[in-house]
Amino acid sequence: MKFELIEKKLSDIDADIEIVFVVDKNFDHKWVKDKDELDILNFKGESEEIAFLPHQKRVYVGVKNLDHDEIRIAAAKAIKTIKNKKYKSAKAGVYIQNCPVTNIKAFVEGAIFGEYEFDKFKSKKEKSKLEIIYIAKEDYSDKNFTTKNAKKSINEAIIVAEATNFVKDLVNTPPNEITPKALAKIAKDMAKEEDIECKILDEKDLEKENMGAFLAVAKASSNPPRLIHLSYKPKNPKAKIAIVGKGLTYDSGGLSLKPSDYMVTMKSDKSGACAVLGIIKAAKKLDIPVEIHAIAGAAENMIGGNAYKPDDILKAKNGKTIEVRNTDAEGRLVLADCLCYAQEKIKPDYILDLATLTGACVVALGEYTTGVMGHNDELKKSMLEAAKSSGELAGELPFNRYLPKLLESKIADICNISSSRYGGAITAALFLSEFIEEKNKDKWLHLDIAGPAYVEKEWGYNSFGAGGAGVRMVVKWLQKEFVFNKKHP
Ligand code: BES
Ligand code: ZN
Ligand code: ZN
Repeated sequence: MKFELIEKKLSDIDADIEIVFVVDKNFDHKWVKDKDELDILNFKGESEEIAFLPHQKRVYVGVKNLDHDEIRIAAAKAIKTIKNKKYKSAKAGVYIQNCPVTNIKAFVEGAIFGEYEFDKFKSKKEKSKLEIIYIAKEDYSDKNFTTKNAKKSINEAIIVAEATNFVKDLVNTPPNEITPKALAKIAKDMAKEEDIECKILDEKDLEKENMGAFLAVAKASSNPPRLIHLSYKPKNPKAKIAIVGKGLTYDSGGLSLKPSDYMVTMKSDKSGACAVLGIIKAAKKLDIPVEIHAIAGAAENMIGGNAYKPDDILKAKNGKTIEVRNTDAEGRLVLADCLCYAQEKIKPDYILDLATLTGACVVALGEYTTGVMGHNDELKKSMLEAAKSSGELAGELPFNRYLPKLLESKIADICNISSSRYGGAITAALFLSEFIEEKNKDKWLHLDIAGPAYVEKEWGYNSFGAGGAGVRMVVKWLQKEFVFNKKHP
C-alpha cells in the first residue's frame, strides 16, 4: 500500500472510495455529503463508529477529536473495512485543526496498522487489494503545512509503521520456526539489506566472554543460543547508544515449568530482541545521527537432563554470583550478561533494555502499557513523553531503598527472584541494575514490555497477537533527544 500527497481538493481526486472522518459529530463539514443516509443508518459519529456506503463510494468514521490516537484508530478501522473488498485506491482529506502534518503522520500509521494481518500460516490468504491511498492537501494557509513537510511526515510514518509491522511478523512467527539461530540469520540478512554491521556470537564465544548466566538458561535446549550485535554508525554521531533486547525464542519456564495455560504465547518472549532489530532498522532509514548498537540475547528456556536448576549458582560476565531459585526468571539472567557485554564493548552514553520480563508488570499496569524503570528521573520522563507522542502507552514503576533487599541471597551475591511476591516488575529491574556499572546507573533505562508485546485480542489499531511494543516509543525518543533537542547540538 502506497501513499501519495495530492495538491487538489478531495472532491477533485479520482479514487475507488473516499474515507471521511466525522469530527466531534460535526455533520456540517463540507466532506460529509450523505447526511440523510447516515441518519437512516443511525450513524451518530461516535468514536470508532463506522458507516460503509458502497453506493456513495464513501466510508465514514467517527472521531471524538483530532488527537493522534483517535486518528490512528479511525484510519485503521476504515482500512479494515475496505481492505478485503475490491477497492484498489482510496482517498482522504486532512483536517486543519491541531497540526495537519502530525495528523497526516497518525493517519498513515493507523492505515498501515489497519492493513496488518499475520496470515503466513493460513492456506487461504485474504490479501488486501488496496494499492494506493491519496491524501488531499487542499489549499490551507498554515506555514508549517508545506508540501515538503507533509511528504516528510508521510515518509517517517511509513518507516516507523513498517518497522513496527516487521517486528510483529517476527514475534508472531512460531517458535519451531524462529529459534535463536534463525533469529540470528534474520538479523544478519536485515543488516546486509540495510547496510549495517552485524556480529553474531555463538555458544563458544559466549563461553569466552564468561557469560555464565546466559549460557545456563540456554543449556537444556537443542537449539543453541546466539548473541546478536548490530551496529549502525553514522558519520559524526551525537551519542552512542546501546539497546539490549530479551530474545527468549521460547520460555517454557525451564524446570520451574510454567502451567500449560501460561506457556501458550511464550513465543512472544523474544519481543525485546525483535524490537531492537526494528528500532535499528528504522533509525538507519531515518538517518538518526546517533551510533546505535542493538544487542539481542537469543536463547530457549527448556527442560531436560542438562537443564539449569533451582539451587544452581551461576557466575555472570561481571563476576557476580547468582543463586537460582526459579528457572522461570530467566530473562534477567540473559539480560544481565548482555548488559555487561554492552557496557564493556560499547561504552555507551545511554543504555536501554527492552524485555517481556515479568507478568507482574502486566498485573501492575494492565496489558496495554509498558513499564518504565531506572535511576534517572529526567531520562524516565523523557521516555514517557516520547511514548505519549508516539502513540504507545507507558507508565513509571518507581524504585525505592527497601526493594533491593528482597534480592539478597544467603549463599551468593544475589538471588534471581525476590523473597516477596509483591512488586515483581520492580525487583526484576533492580536485579538488572546489579549488572549496571556504578558510572552507568544514570544512563540506563529498563522497559518491561510484557503486556503490549503480545495481546490475544484486537485493541485500537492493533491486531491480535504481537504489537511491536517499544519500537515507536524508542524511535521517537531518539528523535526527540538527538534530532530536535538543543541539549545534543
Ligand atoms: N517471560 C516471562 C514474563 C512474562 C509473563 C511475559 C507473561 C509475558 C507475559 C518471564 O520469564 C517470567 O516467567 N517471569 C516470571 C518471574 C517470576 C518467576 C519471578 C513471572 O513473571 O511470573
Ligand atoms: Zn520465564
Ligand atoms: Zn521469559
